[in-house]
Amino acid sequence: MHTLSIPYERIQRKDFDATLLRLEGAAVEVARNAYAPYSRFRVGAALLLSNGVVVVGSNQENAAYPSGLCAERTALFAAGAQYPNEAVEILLLVAFSEEDRVESITPCGACRQVLMETSSRHQKPFKVIMVGKEQALVLHDNRGLLPFAFDGSDLPD
Ligand code: THU
Repeated sequence: MHTLSIPYERIQRKDFDATLLRLEGAAVEVARNAYAPYSRFRVGAALLLSNGVVVVGSNQENAAYPSGLCAERTALFAAGAQYPNEAVEILLLVAFSEEDRVESITPCGACRQVLMETSSRHQKPFKVIMVGKEQALVLHDNRGLLPFAFDGSDLPD
């Protein structure tokens, strides 16, 4: 039998440095722009790019449910559209149910796949910081979220 383990740490929100405070502020603000009339669950994602720019996204729902998009992919695709050559260094996430901050959420499976493609594309893994009420879960390498991933290297040349 083989076992995979995923290293992560917990940090206190009160210990956030200036970069994390900046990203958290941006994620909280953009979560207000979530379009979530169906779930009433608002998610904010903030990305720090290698050029220092912060790109944000929030979930955007649709009456045809699968047509909506999560905050993470909204942000990652916006970054790809605007800054195609900049690697992602940090992805920080916050979420609210109605007006209340919830505990750390982790990206859905489809978003994990897009996180993986982002790090492969730029050949640079990035941190994923999932912020809760008092604590945040910190994954130093996004690839931990998707073991046995399928990526471009699996496709024939
Ligand atoms: N959602 C996100 O935006 N990110 C996540 O990591 C989990 C879920 C959104 C999708 C949907 O609009 C709502 O939250 C409820 O699932």
